[in-house]
Amino acid sequence: MIENLNKINGLDIKESALDKEDGSTPKLLEISRELQANLKISGSSPLDSVLQAITNILCDASQNEPWWDHVYTLRHYIDWLYIHSINVSIISLMIAEALDLKPQLDDIALGAILHDIGKLAIPKKIVQKPGKLNEEEQFYMRHHCELGLSMTTGCGLSGISVDIIEQHHERLDGSGYPRGLTDAQIPLHARIVLMADVIDAMTSYRPYKKPKQIEDVVGELRREKSKYPQDILEVFRSLLL
Ligand SMILES: [Fe+2]
Ligand SMILES: [Fe+2]
Repeated sequence: MIENLNKINGLDIKESALDKEDGSTPKLLEISRELQANLKISGSSPLDSVLQAITNILCDASQNEPWWDHVYTLRHYIDWLYIHSINVSIISLMIAEALDLKPQLDDIALGAILHDIGKLAIPKKIVQKPGKLNEEEQFYMRHHCELGLSMTTGCGLSGISVDIIEQHHERLDGSGYPRGLTDAQIPLHARIVLMADVIDAMTSYRPYKKPKQIEDVVGELRREKSKYPQDILEVFRSLLL
């Protein structure tokens, strides 16, 4: 099956090191197909090279990297959280490619895959809670960026990947967290991932909400100019059908 899918895509995607133990959890190609259909990503978009960049991270050769345990744990923790992490990575890399950020793609991919890793330090019942979070639960959740930062300290991540983990919930008007950074204080790679994060969160299933259509999400984000970088949103929009 992998052989056939590779032929269709013209890709040389090997079975991921993460996919070896069981067939019950979602795989990269399946996740990317669903994302492509869900977001109506154009067939001429750079999805293939983006998938190759992610496969380079998830491959056998990465198993000795100090950050590997985090990727492995994420893969086997909560299905939708792993799928979200891959989706955010795919969307971020598509935007980064369109912005000609090729030399930074690997660091952006790893940062995006690990962007929510801090949620693994929060009780699962809070992360998966189907209803509204109470104040205490919100307090924990709002700390997942800092938790992710401390979990990955000493893992040899680049500054780009670290910024993404720490800053993907910042907003241009300073209303985000953890530091309330504004505009240019948030570097380009973190702004790309914050857009990819919100686009995927709004268009995907969660135990506590229904997914929205991509057209509605783009419309909503265009109305939130003070919070979201419109230049990055428009680059993403140009990749859709
Ligand atoms: Fe997050
Ligand atoms: Fe996220």
